[in-house]
Amino acid sequence: MTVRRSVVRGCGAYLPKTILTNNDLAKRVDTSDEWIVQRTGISQRHIAADGEFTSDLGLASAKAALADAGLDAGDIDLIVVATSTPDYTFPATAVTIQAALGITNGAAFDLQAVCTGFVYALTVADQMLSSGLHERALVIGAETFSRILDWEDRGTCVLFGDGAGALVLESVAVDDGNGIDDRGVLAARLRADGRHCDKLYVDGGPSRTQTVGHLRMEGREVFKHAVTMIAEVVDDLMDATGLTADEIDWFVPHQANRRIIDGSARKLGLSPEKVVITVDRHANTSAASIPLALSEAVGDGRIKQGDLVMLEAMGGGFTWGAVLLRW
Ligand code: UT7
Repeated sequence: MTVRRSVVRGCGAYLPKTILTNNDLAKRVDTSDEWIVQRTGISQRHIAADGEFTSDLGLASAKAALADAGLDAGDIDLIVVATSTPDYTFPATAVTIQAALGITNGAAFDLQAVCTGFVYALTVADQMLSSGLHERALVIGAETFSRILDWEDRGTCVLFGDGAGALVLESVAVDDGNGIDDRGVLAARLRADGRHCDKLYVDGGPSRTQTVGHLRMEGREVFKHAVTMIAEVVDDLMDATGLTADEIDWFVPHQANRRIIDGSARKLGLSPEKVVITVDRHANTSAASIPLALSEAVGDGRIKQGDLVMLEAMGGGFTWGAVLLRW
């Protein structure tokens, strides 16, 4: 039987030039490099320049992904941007990027699932490609969290950074001999539990306050749930596909906190050499962290065609989820 798979044709990333180190932050709030490194694994983060917007970051990552794929913008008929820091309330950042790429056909929209945004966006795009509705998609995670941070709150301002990453996916017909050997997105699981919405949120918005607001978080509460939720959803995906931890080549988690990443990998029985880490240099870039990490690991030759890659994320909502794909 022939099925359609969403196969990765290319990936790309963009990080703003300005780097803010822990020591820079220690001059602004009561914190230290030692505390931040010990509790989070973060040493620095990139910060968007004045006049540099989420769409600019997303556009740069999209151009890099198209170049990597050897495709033109005109080959794309779907753009999904995962972001919680859009340029405007509307229209979607995706249409700004679409226009900048000179694309006038197909669909473009934003999707908001906070740090799980890229996992949600990839899953939605995969469904739209594998159903035959669209042919080639740009799936982008782009964020400027520096714009929604309370720079006087040491409990949150040290944790986040700006950046963007993108994948080009193509709908390819394959013989479904042994599904798990196919290239492309193989399986996904998405979760949400809105009872936790007050543990990580932004205290502004068009309807409630007519302001943008600032990020608020009960860090300890988020931390408490993170490893359990991540392990549950990844375990579910491995059970559903009959895979064991040994068969996963690369674990590319959302990069929020080194302790959460290490705890999840340990609980899942994944060896540390298989885990891609960027949180030390990028901090938490929310929906951008997974495609940024993928681009780095592909760029330096770790992830190769045919490798089995497990992505996972957990964040505000709470939302969480995992995607299994063969590169
Ligand atoms: O993508 C998902 C989004 N977010 C996350 O995944 C974040 C999840 N949570 C975390 O990563 C951790 O909870 C944090 C890194 C935010 C905090 O680490 P923690 O080990 O849970 O520390 P804590 O919140 O229990 O705070 C310990 C102490 C507190 O002082 P007291 O009350 O014990 O005197 C804080 O006030 O550390 C203090 N503290 C700081 N000290 C220096 C909090 N932030 C800072 C800081 N520098 N930046």
